[in-house]
Amino acid sequence: MSKEPTKGGAPGKSPGTKAKRKLTRSEKKQIAAAIRQAKGDGKAHTAQQTIPYINLYPDGICRVTERKYSKSIVFEDINYQLAQADDKTAIFENWCDFLNYFDASVSVQLSFINQGTKREEAEKAINIPAQDDAFNSIRTEYGDMLKSQLSKGNNGLVKHKYITFTIEADNMSAAKSRLSRIETDILNNFKVLGVSARPMTGYERLQTMHGVFHPEGEPFHFDFSWLAPSGLTTKDFIAPPSFRFGEGRYFRMGRKIGAVSFLQILAPELNDRILADMLDLETGVIVNLHIRSIDQTEAIKTVKRKITDLDKMKIEEQKKAVRAGYDMDIIPSDLATFGGEAKNLLQDLQSRNERMYLLTFLVVNMADTKRKLENDIFAAAGIAQKYNCALTRLDYQQEAGLMSSVPIGENLIPIQRGLTTSSTAIFIPFITQELFQRGASLYYGLNALSNNMILCDRKQLKNPNGLILGTPGSGKSFAAKREMTNAFLITDDDIIICDPEAEVRQEVA
Ligand SMILES: Nc1ncnc2c1ncn2[C@@H]1O[C@H](COP(=O)(O)OP(=O)(O)OP(=O)(O)O)[C@@H](O)[C@H]1O
Ligand SMILES: [Mg+2]
Repeated sequence: MSKEPTKGGAPGKSPGTKAKRKLTRSEKKQIAAAIRQAKGDGKAHTAQQTIPYINLYPDGICRVTERKYSKSIVFEDINYQLAQADDKTAIFENWCDFLNYFDASVSVQLSFINQGTKREEAEKAINIPAQDDAFNSIRTEYGDMLKSQLSKGNNGLVKHKYITFTIEADNMSAAKSRLSRIETDILNNFKVLGVSARPMTGYERLQTMHGVFHPEGEPFHFDFSWLAPSGLTTKDFIAPPSFRFGEGRYFRMGRKIGAVSFLQILAPELNDRILADMLDLETGVIVNLHIRSIDQTEAIKTVKRKITDLDKMKIEEQKKAVRAGYDMDIIPSDLATFGGEAKNLLQDLQSRNERMYLLTFLVVNMADTKRKLENDIFAAAGIAQKYNCALTRLDYQQEAGLMSSVPIGENLIPIQRGLTTSSTAIFIPFITQELFQRGASLYYGLNALSNNMILCDRKQLKNPNGLILGTPGSGKSFAAKREMTNAFLITDDDIIICDPEAEVRQEVA
């Protein structure tokens, strides 16, 4: 069927030896239909076709379009929001340098995915199994205390942060070397910030996408070795049961209803809490920032051109003033402020280590019902409002919006805002470090910012020693005794107390 009539006569085949058979009308129709089906009409007809990438390889490289390739890195949080002012400034400046690393040939996507996990998973981690001794009643009591502390946290939401970088390349091998160089640089830049980060494998990237498309936490079963025998593609394993984008302001994905909005940055000054507050929502939002830097000389040229335009307008106004006979210092106030702002921007770009970026800020909400969804969006819009921005729904662009909110590395939403490095860096992705170790880990209290439980197993550390410092009466002895109790209840460790003031002995007696 796919055999084409050879052009110019095929060599070695003399014409006339086999009588040419004319195709019947129905056969022609059949062929035309098959060609049409194979070519498609440019629209997506299956959930798989909606997902905008070509292929994803086991090493984590994703071929997004013919010439675009992307890779992802997952990174952990560091303590920023509760840090001292000096430390905050240092982190902020390092984050600015981090952003300045990206030139115009690399586009960056920062993804913040809050996924609901099964409550039972976390409860399993703090479960204390009964042992063959006389203290099981205390174990139950301690376990109940842990459970009540667990419920004070953010309802088992697991927050992940990813950075996906996309480049253009002629072929796979060129892309591979360039991506791995950028990856090394990003990992080094993260190290400067004290952020632990690691590149994601193809499996992990698929798992993340699967997580976005299956918000109810369905398990992900996949192996790259299954692809060849089954004839399936990677998309078959991550696609949701269905997509529906017919409604303009909503999308439906499987049983969930959702909506994508973008942040309209109207505020002249932004606060570094805006992203943190958005991510703090208890509703499992997905936030994505697409950042693309503009070539520095291009940016400076554009700003200069704008200044020239404004100057021209100013001169026109002055001419008008002279002609009409009033003071020529009187010009429209907008013209005066714009002129001043543009000159400041030019100075920033030329002498302050600032670059220009185009930023797209997307927020995805998902819920079971429309009413719940509207409430969630209202809460998110309230946060935007608080910082003088607006959360605007992407009308009739829900499909492009949702696909730009998956860590593939492709921005299909053309709504961008030009910002300088420091204004882009204000969306600082660091909030607070969480510590939730599995295994025989002990409970050390709640995180002051997120209210999440701190579970840690000191024996897994390089140096397991600890020291409790505090003002008199602040609970040092209490903390030590609680840790001892915890270790006594869940481990077989020996507890040796050196107690010169006989404080513990007294209480035991
Ligand atoms: N997490 C806590 N919850 C409730 N009460 C607490 C907590 N931590 C400490 N306390 C109470 O605070 C009081 C002082 O605690 P503790 O004796 O442990 O302090 P300390 O730092 O060891 O004091 P000192 O410096 O005098 O040794 C105690 O009555 C203790 O019960
Ligand atoms: Mg004490």
